[in-house]
This record gives sequence, structure tokens and C-alpha cells, in this order.
Amino acid sequence: VFHALLALGVGAAWLTGDEAPAIGWHTAAGYGVAALIAFRLAWGFVGGRWSRWSAFPLLRRAEGPGHSTTAAWSALAAIAIVAGLVVTGVIVLGGEELRGPMAGLPDPSHAVVMHSVHSALAWAILGWLGVHLAGVAKQSLAERQNLARGMVDGKKRTSEPGVPARAGVAALLAASAVGLVGWTGTRELPEVGNPLPADPIYDEACGECHLAFPPRLLPAASWERTLDEAGDHFDEDLALDPDVSAHLRAWLVANAAETRIDEHAVRAAPIEGAPLRITETSPWKTAHQGIPDAVWENPDVKSRVRCKSCHPDAAEGRFDGAFAAIPSPEDR
Ligand code: HEC
Ligand code: HEC
Repeated sequence: VFHALLALGVGAAWLTGDEAPAIGWHTAAGYGVAALIAFRLAWGFVGGRWSRWSAFPLLRRAEGPGHSTTAAWSALAAIAIVAGLVVTGVIVLGGEELRGPMAGLPDPSHAVVMHSVHSALAWAILGWLGVHLAGVAKQSLAERQNLARGMVDGKKRTSEPGVPARAGVAALLAASAVGLVGWTGTRELPEVGNPLPADPIYDEACGECHLAFPPRLLPAASWERTLDEAGDHFDEDLALDPDVSAHLRAWLVANAAETRIDEHAVRAAPIEGAPLRITETSPWKTAHQGIPDAVWENPDVKSRVRCKSCHPDAAEGRFDGAFAAIPSPEDR
């Protein structure tokens, strides 16, 4: 049962890939697989006799109906690859999508490397699958029994009396794993772990009249210019104290688009001419081009600059399109 679910979970993750809108399902499959791995590791201590780690014939010759030596190493390799996929996946999710436990990753450039590792491991598991299927076919012929069936029901034909695996417990755990995947796949995940970078002085100085826009939305030169021209900020004089201004400059530059690797920041970083408006940059326009004019005229939106009308998590620095709630022109 574990085997079937794991294959299903990894298969689902493979098929959904990292392209929106399937990313929600991809991460759900990833979390499900993580739960399965955790379960399998625990099952190795409390499970049926042949499932136990102590029964894994890694160094000695295999005996009885459990895994053969090759199969034991092969299973361990698969578990290691999949565990690696989960860990690198969570790091990539944090760096590129700003979600999950690693969202506030201190140095997002790690996620670039991790993305390559993640992809490499994904190919590795595919390669492993090829070898695995060939091995199973060969063994099935040699032993004249259908080993594939044993992977579904966990049984193997043998002349020895079997030790009953704790089928009830296994079924319960399997059901909860499926439930977890369904649950995480269908809803917005609660955010755990690191919050995105924030600075209380910035929030106070720049969050009074509009959202304290996340610095990753504009390149550093834009923020420098905003501060240089703070005396005439869209007809307002921000009258910034020099100390505050210096602090803001350091913080904005340290967190500007150039320093991040999420999709928006990557597109915003090379923008030239230091635009003062996020809403006039190409990545912003591209993300919002599908929104009908009527929405912008909606009195609940009024201005493009009011990000919070449509992005409930804007204050935390998140703008995931999937969760943006456009107030429809009808409900006023
Ligand atoms: C006294 C009010 C006020 C404060 C304080 C303020 N702003 Fe603004 N800001 C405005 C107004 C007004 C606009 C134009 C809004 C509009 O077009 O609807 C604006 C627009 C912006 C925009 C462009 C929004 C867009 O994409 O169209 C950015 C970026 C910005 N402000 C950054 C800052 C930063 C950084 C600070 C802190 C140093 C700051 N603001 C503080 C009033 C303020
Ligand atoms: C009228 C509602 C509305 C307003 C106001 C609005 N947005 Fe959006 N925004 C959306 C929608 C809807 C999407 C998703 C578009 C899509 O997925 O095709 C989106 C997408 C985005 C994205 C891309 C999200 C991603 O995951 O790639 C960013 C970044 C973003 N908005 C930032 C902002 C900022 C910053 C502001 C304020 C300056 C703002 N938005 C104002 C509706 C709005």
C-alpha cells in the first residue's frame, strides 16, 4: 500500500511539474510524499516483520520472503532520492514562490542551486524507475511469481507461515496520507516558518498612505530615486529625517528585486530608467493585463495602487495570483 501511494504521489508530482496553476497540486503531492516517507521510516520500527529495518538485508544475505539484498538497497536509494526531492522542493518553494516553511529564506540564491538539484533528482528517480521495473520483471520471471502484486497488498507467496502485518494500522495511515494530500491540494496552505523580510521603520515611514510595497517589486535604482526625490513624492513632501532616510535606503537596496529570485523580482531587476511606479513596470502590467476595466472603476478598488483590495496577503508581501480576490463590479 505504501508502495502504491508513493508511486502515485511521486507520479502526480512529476506530472504537475512546477508550472502554475498546478503548482498547488505539485506541492500537495510533495507534502503527501513527505508524510509517506516519514510513515515508512517509522513503519520500519513498528511495522510487520519483513518491513522492519532490522529485516533489511543490506550487508548480509537475504533470507525468507522479505526484500533481497539488491531490492533492499534499491528501496533505500528510492527513499533517499525522494526525501532529497522533498527537502530541495521546500527550499525552491520558499525562494521562488515565497511560500512554505522556507519562504523567508535568508539567501534566496540558494534556491537557484536547489532548483537544479531538485530537477536532477527528479530525473534520477525516473532513471531509478527504469532500473527498478527491469529488476522486478527479471525477478518475477526467475521466481515465477508476480512480484508486482506483492507491492500492492504487501504479501508474497511463501511456504513459511506469514507474520500478519498490522493491516488495520497501515490502512489508517494510508487513508490519512491521502486525506492530507487532498486537504493541502484544495486549500491555501497555512503559512508556517519564516515570514518574508519586513522592517518596522519602513512600514512606519512608507506604509502610512499606501501599502509599504515589498522592495522586491522594483530594482534598487528605483528605490534610491524614490528617496532622492522624497521631497516631491507624488505631490507629497515625505519630510524624511536623514537617519530614517539612510536606514530606508540601506534596507530597500538590500531587499530590492536584484536580491530575490521569485518570478516578479527576476523580471523587475533588469528594468532600466529607475521607474517610480511599480504599476508602470512591465511585470506588473503583464500580471494584471487580464483584469477588465470595470474592475479598476469599481469603488472598492478605485486605484491600482490599492493592492490590498485584491491581494488579501499584500501586507505580508504576497501577491499570488491564485488567491487574489477581485471585487466584482456588482457587489458594492
Ligand atoms: C504622505 C503619504 C505618502 C507616504 C508617507 C509615502 N507615499 Fe508613496 N505614494 C503616495 C501617493 C499619493 C502615491 C501615488 C498614489 C496613486 O497614484 O494613487 C504614492 C505612490 C508610491 C509608489 C508608486 C505606486 C505605483 O506603483 O503606482 C511607490 C513605489 C511609493 N509610493 C513608495 C513610497 C515609499 C518608498 C515611501 C517611504 C519612503 C512612501 N511611498 C511614502 C503617498 C505617500
Ligand atoms: C483589481 C485587483 C488588483 C489590484 C488592485 C492589484 N492586483 Fe495584483 N493581481 C491581481 C490579480 C487578479 C492577479 C493574478 C493575475 C493572474 O494570475 O493572471 C494579480 C497578480 C499580481 C502579481 C503576480 C503574482 C504572482 O504570483 O506572480 C503581483 C506581484 C501583483 N499582482 C502585485 C500587485 C501590487 C504590488 C499591487 C498594488 C500596487 C497590485 N498587485 C494590485 C489583482 C489585483
